[in-house]
Amino acid sequence: MNVPLLDLVAQYRTIKDEVLPALQEVIESQQFIMGPAIAALETEVARLSHAAHGIGCASGTDALLLPLKALALEPGDEVITTAFTFFASAGTIHNTGGRPVFVDIDPATFNIDPAAAAAAIGPRTRAIMPVHLYGQMAAMERLLPIAAPRHLPVIEDACQAIGARRRVDGRWRHAGELGWVGGFSFFPSKNLGAWGDGGMMVTNDAATAERLRRLRLHGGAKQYHHEEVGTNSRLDTLQAVVLLRKLPHLADWSARRRAHAAYYTAAFADLAAVRTPVVEDANEHIFHQYTLRVERRDELAAHLKAQGIGHAVYYPVPLHRQECFAHLGYAPGSLPETERACREVISLPIYPELTPAQLDRVIDVVRTFYR
Ligand SMILES: Cc1ncc(COP(=O)(O)O)c(C=O)c1O
Repeated sequence: MNVPLLDLVAQYRTIKDEVLPALQEVIESQQFIMGPAIAALETEVARLSHAAHGIGCASGTDALLLPLKALALEPGDEVITTAFTFFASAGTIHNTGGRPVFVDIDPATFNIDPAAAAAAIGPRTRAIMPVHLYGQMAAMERLLPIAAPRHLPVIEDACQAIGARRRVDGRWRHAGELGWVGGFSFFPSKNLGAWGDGGMMVTNDAATAERLRRLRLHGGAKQYHHEEVGTNSRLDTLQAVVLLRKLPHLADWSARRRAHAAYYTAAFADLAAVRTPVVEDANEHIFHQYTLRVERRDELAAHLKAQGIGHAVYYPVPLHRQECFAHLGYAPGSLPETERACREVISLPIYPELTPAQLDRVIDVVRTFYR
C-alpha cells in the first residue's frame, strides 16, 4: 500500500458539497474582488486567534512582508529570526530592506532559542520574528520580555500554526495573539488550506490594522489617494469562500492530526534510532508536520521512497547557508543545532484523512528499516 505525504483529494471529497455551491454563488455574482466573504473570514480568523483584527492578504509571505514594510526598515536594520524555517521568513526581511540575523534553535522543539535571540540584540535590531515551526508555538512568554524593554515589535510567523495555542501564566494564548502582528498562510497544504494562495495578518493594535489594510491596497484607504506606497495583496474572494466553508472543520482536522501523532509516537517509542517530536507541556501542537529526528536519515528516506511512503525533509539547507545569503557571512557550524536538525529531520504523512491501515503501513515501513 502506498501512502502519500498529503492527500488533498481525500479532504476535497469530504467537503465538496459544502464548498462548490458557495463558489458557484460568487461566480454567478461575478464579484471576485473583496466583498463580504473577506470581512467574514477576517472576523473568524481574528476570533480563532483571540486577536482584535484580521487583515486578509495574498499569501503567507505577504502576511510577513506587509508588517515588515510597515516598520520602514533602513539599510543595516536587523530582524532576528531562525534559520530553520521556510525561506519566506527571511526572504521577506531581505525584501523589505532589512538584514536577517539568524540565531540557533532549541533542539527539542526546533523553535527559536530565546536566549540566543536575546544575545543577538544589538543597536540595529528593529524586530524579532519567531516561527511557530511545524505547528507548535515558540516560547512567546520568554521572547516578549526580551523584546519589550527595547520596544522591539514581535512578528509571529504563524504560517504553519493556525489554531495552535500555548499556556502562559495558566491561560491559553493563541498563535498570533501575543505578537505585534501574526501572519498565517493558507497555502493548500496547510492545516487550513485554500484552493490557491492566500494569507491573513492578525493584530490587537487598531492603528496597525488600519495601516496593514492600506498597505495591501497600494497604500491608500480611499481609492486613487495614496498616503504611502503599498502593493496589491488582496485575499482572493473565491479563496475566502473556500476558507470560510473549511474553517468549521479545522479544530477537528487538527485534533485528528494530534491523534495520528500520538499513535506514531507510541509506535516508535522503543526505537533507539528515532526521536519522536517533543511537545512542550504548555503547548497544544497542531501538527502541521510530524517530524522525527533519526539516524541514517537519507537511507531511511530512500527506504520510504522504495516502499511508496510519502515523506519530506523540512528543511535540508538552513537559511544562513543559502547561497543568496552568503554575503551575511555565516560559516558552516555557526548555528550547530540548526545544522544538526537539517541533517536529522524527516517528516511523515500526518494529514487528517489518513486511515488506521495507512498509519500502520507507515509505522511498519519505518520499523522494518531500523530492525
Ligand atoms: C514558516 C512559513 N513561513 C512563511 C510561509 C509562506 O507562506 P505562503 O506560501 O502562503 O506564502 C510558509 C508557507 O509556505 C511557512 O511555512
